[in-house]
Amino acid sequence: MKRKEFLKLSGAGVGSLLIPAAVISVISSGCGKNSGMGNMGGMSGSPVNINEGDFLQALPIPATVGASGALTPQATSATLKGSQVYNVFGYQSGSILGPTFRVSKGADVNINVANNLGEVSNVHWHGLHIPAAMDGYPTNLINAGASFKYNFTVRQRAGLNWYHPHTHMATARQVYKGLAGLFIVNDPEEAALNLPAGEFEIPLVIQDKRLADISLSYNPTMMEIMSGYLGDSILVNGKASPFHEIKSQTYRLRILNGSNARIYNLAFNNNQSFTIIGNDGGLLKSPASVTSILLAPGERLDILADFSAALTGDEIFLVNKLFGGAGTAQGKQEFKIVKFKITQKVNVTFAIPSVLSSVVSLTAAQASRTRNFDISNSGVMMQSGMHRINDKVFDANRIDEAVAANAIEIWQFDNSQGEEPHPMHIHSIDFQVLQRTGGRNGLTASESGWKDTVLVMPGEIVKVIIPFENNAGKFVFHCHNLEHEDDGMMLQYQLS
Ligand code: C2O
Ligand code: CU
Ligand code: CU
Repeated sequence: MKRKEFLKLSGAGVGSLLIPAAVISVISSGCGKNSGMGNMGGMSGSPVNINEGDFLQALPIPATVGASGALTPQATSATLKGSQVYNVFGYQSGSILGPTFRVSKGADVNINVANNLGEVSNVHWHGLHIPAAMDGYPTNLINAGASFKYNFTVRQRAGLNWYHPHTHMATARQVYKGLAGLFIVNDPEEAALNLPAGEFEIPLVIQDKRLADISLSYNPTMMEIMSGYLGDSILVNGKASPFHEIKSQTYRLRILNGSNARIYNLAFNNNQSFTIIGNDGGLLKSPASVTSILLAPGERLDILADFSAALTGDEIFLVNKLFGGAGTAQGKQEFKIVKFKITQKVNVTFAIPSVLSSVVSLTAAQASRTRNFDISNSGVMMQSGMHRINDKVFDANRIDEAVAANAIEIWQFDNSQGEEPHPMHIHSIDFQVLQRTGGRNGLTASESGWKDTVLVMPGEIVKVIIPFENNAGKFVFHCHNLEHEDDGMMLQYQLS
């Protein structure tokens, strides 16, 4: 399959791509982002409005399994909205997504993946620090009809991780069509907090899809590669506009933004505050109370939501609030995501611990070097691959960065000249966010502690500090807007 290019679009082979006439005239009339891009309404595309739905379907909770299990990626069907059946991909038959793996730190994991998709795929364990051969490298693929056993030891702290295909140039389509799941690690430090558990710990995988189309086709236009393939409906755990019955007490919500490109500004419709206790890399040092928080594709949140003021019969929605600074396609609409229906008034209180975990903060002085990554993508219009890092597109045969085992480095993602948001993700490590200049200037409440994905808005430069481990091999890092990733916005580092 060939990379979609601007140049190609003005020639033959465009196929079924729909290209607005204004775009074609821009392509043929010159390059560079200042040459008449006003015609396109900015370089980051247009919003896709959400159809909220009716919140009459129960929220599904994926099955929980332990350290050994099986995944069978396959084309199947699922009722994503009401009783309407869609053609999807699942890790089992009958639904999108896969089971939630829940393991303790130290566990040996054994997961057999039998690829029944009818095309190549693999599994990347996003957030896990595991050997390169198990990490789902983009060209390390499982052929159609073949199986592969993922086998690794979990050596990291408690946290919410996830898994999804990382198939070279097909990640976006395979995830969009339904392949993803959660991977929770528990440890004694977390257990000592006695956080809400069982029915009071709810996983929420938030994704947007185009539900007007029952075959869930994935065919982004050039402009949709700019903005990302935004959906017209929000699914939570594989169901559009669901509801969940709760009691009037504190719940722990474990949230993944598993969308291809959509960023959410999460809040409750009654504006009640909630407490962020964790993120991509596990528990924060101390809790942070907020009334809204941005969550970009690939990022996770661990929050405590206190519903004790609610009465039986109340309905409280998790919603997306408007936000700015994210280019022309995102943050322009407020919509509901999931409805919580209070069905039982109880008198249970939960005191949030003031210290959650020990996180040793790294300082810039500890870093041996700084690497700069230009992610602005200014002036690349006439080249192959519209999305680049340091003016390069992914090449499995080229090592972009050589990193010494156990090095501590600062990586700087520079989107100061850019017009699109880029959630940047690095495999096999967790980093600390050191600094953000431009745009939002500063860190958000979910950016303390450890992370593996950081949102870099247009105009921003974000510095992260990374303690690399002793885990030799080739690992990728990329934008987690999956359209951008498949369009080439991914490089690799060799750890040795
Ligand atoms: Cu969740 Cu390289 O990805
Ligand atoms: Cu990853
Ligand atoms: Cu991007």
